[in-house]
Amino acid sequence: MSAQIESVLQEGRLFPPPKGFVSKAAIAGMDQYQALCAEAEKDHAGFWARLAREHLVWHKPFSRALDDSNAPFFKWFDDGELNVSWNCLDRHLGTPVENKTAIVFEADDGKVSKVTYRELHERVCRFANGLRALGFQKGERAIVYMPMSVEGVVAMQACARLGIIHSVVFGGFSAKSIHERIIDAGATLVITADEQVRGGKHIPLKPAIDEAFAMGGCDSVRKVVVYRRTGGDVAMQPGRDMAWDEVVAGQSAQCEPAWVGAEHPLFILYTSGSTGKPKGVQHASAGYLLMAALTMKWTFDIKPEDIFWCTADIGWVTGHTYITYGPLACGATQVVFEGVPTFPHAGRFWEMIDRHKVSIFYTAPTAIRSLVKAGESSPDHHPRKYDLSSLRLLGSVGEPINPEAWMWYYTNVGRERCPIVDTWWQTETGGHMITPLPGVHALKPGSCTMPLPGVAAAIVDETGTDVEKGKGGFLVIKKPWPSMIRTIWGDPERFRKSYYPDDFKGRYYLAGDGASRDLDGYFWIMGRIDDVLNVSGHRLGTMEIESALVSNPLVAEAAVVGRPDDMTGEAVVAFVVLKQARPSAEEAKRIANDLRNWVGKEIGAIAKPKDIRFGENLPKTRSGKIMRRLLRSVAKGEEITQDVSTLENPAILDQLKQAN
Ligand code: WT7
Repeated sequence: MSAQIESVLQEGRLFPPPKGFVSKAAIAGMDQYQALCAEAEKDHAGFWARLAREHLVWHKPFSRALDDSNAPFFKWFDDGELNVSWNCLDRHLGTPVENKTAIVFEADDGKVSKVTYRELHERVCRFANGLRALGFQKGERAIVYMPMSVEGVVAMQACARLGIIHSVVFGGFSAKSIHERIIDAGATLVITADEQVRGGKHIPLKPAIDEAFAMGGCDSVRKVVVYRRTGGDVAMQPGRDMAWDEVVAGQSAQCEPAWVGAEHPLFILYTSGSTGKPKGVQHASAGYLLMAALTMKWTFDIKPEDIFWCTADIGWVTGHTYITYGPLACGATQVVFEGVPTFPHAGRFWEMIDRHKVSIFYTAPTAIRSLVKAGESSPDHHPRKYDLSSLRLLGSVGEPINPEAWMWYYTNVGRERCPIVDTWWQTETGGHMITPLPGVHALKPGSCTMPLPGVAAAIVDETGTDVEKGKGGFLVIKKPWPSMIRTIWGDPERFRKSYYPDDFKGRYYLAGDGASRDLDGYFWIMGRIDDVLNVSGHRLGTMEIESALVSNPLVAEAAVVGRPDDMTGEAVVAFVVLKQARPSAEEAKRIANDLRNWVGKEIGAIAKPKDIRFGENLPKTRSGKIMRRLLRSVAKGEEITQDVSTLENPAILDQLKQAN
């Protein structure tokens, strides 16, 4: 880690907030930022209570901000009541926002449709009434397996309206993943679509649900609601499956929300951890929504006239917070896009920014890197060829952004006028935690700069002691915050062990990232310190991929590591021991391909190993421990400099160096 830290700490470029930005920003200048930090420092719970009163609309006010009596199971605003969907929709009715466009939807084929706040409210109410008529109620769990669509947002909002806990499964995940999640969450409802359309191709969704049911054990599910996106031919099981149109038919456009306690779970979102089983990250209603709304204002400086576009999928937390909840809670107009950045050409994003006059654009480093490459090989679709003058602010999320990509984004997309907010956060944090504020911080390419006011981020060593500036360590959050993960669904012990481990005496939230601070106090994130990879901004557990591989009848043993990748940040490399003798070169190619598809079926296409190597064994110590550090070097093609004398089988390394 130290070589990496040294290289980034040499980054000397500094980009102060543009003139004119500071005075108009939600947090206008360093003095205001510091005043907020000081307020939080003085009275942490009181600070968040003030913001929760100012930014949320309560059905019943809360009397107590933070309950830490059962730490680390913290509760915020516990005796207050509200409804999240009401806070995103009804609060705007009767205000000028009512007839404002909420969503500009652009389909894969370029067709554009618009929905106002009033229309969105009606659609959510009709769908919620339909679900209520089917007997669904507060506390039940719904799996949402939907394409990027207005209906995807409606489905989530309708669940929130009824207090139904949604668990969105990204459309790229496999039937097996859906099956696991239906069972773990004990879902009673599934909301899906016939197909999704991406890059001109139709990709089936409903058949994956049917496949999940065929695996057995999904008896908790009473209904599967199917939205017709393409009209593709899908099987409907009478009694269980119901068309979306049938659910909303004849339903009223008014729907009294279910008022819920502040701590009522809003959603569960599964993410990878360091074991084979994904964790159901559980979020609460009020605290989560507070951070979603607040960071729209603080980080994105959202104004009534802005057109906001977050390119994430609703299947990830970024899509939850910065599509389904944050922008709506603020009455913003946002773009929702069905397709992919490279279809029908590599200029699609830039064309859309121009077409919809997007002013705030939020995307991932991996997308930026792929568009750098595409723009260079196809100059007609370079961002320079488009009118991007509507942009005033850019954002980045998902992984550290390398300074080269940052500079390209800043120069070619932002035209040196737009600040870039490099937002560090996680599924577990619910919203931004460490990020520049566009009217406050001078930017350094590759640094997420400083924590938001009220976020007690720090870097500590293995004893929990703060490290000196310039030194690396574990990124922790020392005080609870409103949008934090509440527990892992059904596994509170795993929650405690993963995030409040005894190593730090259970005091601090352990993020799982390595980081350092430079002499100016800027944070630099180094990446995961656990067995989690970050591929294209998505978290993948190495153990998850290993279990998928060993569940294949051909495989005896497997070890998965990450390798730095120019495009995806990290790439998955798998070392596999087959039950049969070591395959010939030709056979190895075929088996590697089969195993790749196998992983795609077990988890999803994003988890497919880029590189699979076969050996008669894996490098192990005499006590049988796999030496992953060594495997990482082999994966990178590095000269092995480590001491291999403790290896039981050093000759194995030569086999594993051969790519297929
Ligand atoms: C992990 C969380 C938060 C939404 C998307 C990912 C990495 C995220 C940054 C950033 C450096 C980042 C971290 C973190 N990460 N944003 N701006 N700079 N690293 O959510 O799937 O829960 O992954 O993504 O490693 O722990 P997630």
